[in-house]
Amino acid sequence: MTGVGIDGIEIHTGKLRLDLAETFAPAKGDDPEKYTKGLGLYASSFPDTYEDIVTMGANAAHRLMERKGLTPEDIGRIDVATESAFDHSKPVSTYIAGCLEQVFDGDFHHANKGERKFACVAGTQSIDDAYNWIKAGRNRGRAALVIATDTALYARGDAGEATQGAGAVAMLIDEDPNLVELSTEQGYGSADETDFLKPNQQFPSVDGKRSVQVYLARMREALVDYQSIGGDVHPDRFRLGPFHTPFPGMVRKAAVLAYRHITRDTEIEAELADEIGRQPRHAEFDDDDAFLEAVQEYTDALTETSRYQSWYARTIDPTLSLSRRVGNWYTGSVHVARVSGLKALAEEGEDAVGKRLLVGSYGSGAQAEIHAETIQPEWRSEIDALNIDDHLASRYELSFSEYEDVHDSHNYDEETSIEEFTPPESEFAFDGWGRMGERKYRYVE
Ligand code: HMG
Repeated sequence: MTGVGIDGIEIHTGKLRLDLAETFAPAKGDDPEKYTKGLGLYASSFPDTYEDIVTMGANAAHRLMERKGLTPEDIGRIDVATESAFDHSKPVSTYIAGCLEQVFDGDFHHANKGERKFACVAGTQSIDDAYNWIKAGRNRGRAALVIATDTALYARGDAGEATQGAGAVAMLIDEDPNLVELSTEQGYGSADETDFLKPNQQFPSVDGKRSVQVYLARMREALVDYQSIGGDVHPDRFRLGPFHTPFPGMVRKAAVLAYRHITRDTEIEAELADEIGRQPRHAEFDDDDAFLEAVQEYTDALTETSRYQSWYARTIDPTLSLSRRVGNWYTGSVHVARVSGLKALAEEGEDAVGKRLLVGSYGSGAQAEIHAETIQPEWRSEIDALNIDDHLASRYELSFSEYEDVHDSHNYDEETSIEEFTPPESEFAFDGWGRMGERKYRYVE
């Protein structure tokens, strides 16, 4: 069998924009640089009143299928990854299939549909399910549609409010893929953690500071596990490192720890030794505190080296540029990071065929997963077909009070009736409630 991977991808952002430095920070009495420098975020995307996880996912999938010339019969599987589902029984994929059947001839009656939940890592898990289904030979020549869609909203006043976002990523998983081929090897770091959860509630309960530590610990575990099966993770082997990006500052913290790990016992550690010494080894210390202090000192010094900074600028920074403008999309976030990095390579005109990505996904609760991907010969045509820049530029700019109204309008516990900010056009829109409490949708020409 030929390789299996991501054949095409589409990103759909919520149509409203909240500027964190200009609008959010002053209203909260914060220094704007807390957002732009500390968290690394400039803006968040929000859904207009008629947008939700179904419309955003269906719009992304619609464009992807149209662009690839696909009909429903070409799709054998639709998996939606989300942590913003509004129905405990009927999966979001059925609502999305219903939307798509309004605009395509034919139907998805013979496609297997489901919904995946594990916080933000579920998008990557859905790709795994599709990969395994194809590799097992059960796909009958058909492709899988994987849609990661979320409205990442926090309760107002929660520290996480600064990291909100809304959008969907649709991916076509197929044999002989155009964009990236997936590796068979994967590393996992998984543990029962209580840092971010939504026990039958819309907005998460979050222990923000702890969630950062859990992210780092699980990601490290996954990297060690990946190394045990994937072999050498020398920095030169990977052109890009897209990570789950709740906010770019999180990835900045993770990247230096990853670099320290993957350069240990390499010529890079030896070459840096004159400048910052060798990495501390546990065996050289009498007690844990002294060891941890030495590790922290080494890590701080490593961040200042030009060797590290140029690796970061080349491998990590390009993956963050979309995230800076949209915020956290939960299940879609790592897939936005992948696109962001590939877009940067395309804009630089780089011949990237055959180059590899080390992809780090993460979901609270908590699980990290790391695998490699290889860029395929047709990758440029897939990246050039994206219209995300136009979409981002056309977002409606919210004032702070409008932001509060939009937040309320998506809050299940609030009764609101605000007007839409943008007119729906050539897209799916929420169209009210059905007789059994189901959400209804229509395609607006
Ligand atoms: P906070 O208390 O508002 O912010 O919470 P802070 O005071 O920690 O400041 C943030 C950073 O800005 C700090 O940088 C400050 O120093 C810096 P750090 O020291 O950490 O490097 N800063 C400034 N920099 C420059 N100029 C200034 C300035 N002021 C401050 N003037 C927190 C931050 C992340 C905790 C909060 O936003 C939060 O709770 N977020 C939600 C949870 C989250 O995103 N966790 C990330 C890991 S868990 C994850 O990724 C999973 C998730 O996606 C969910 C899922 O899987 O489903 C969330």
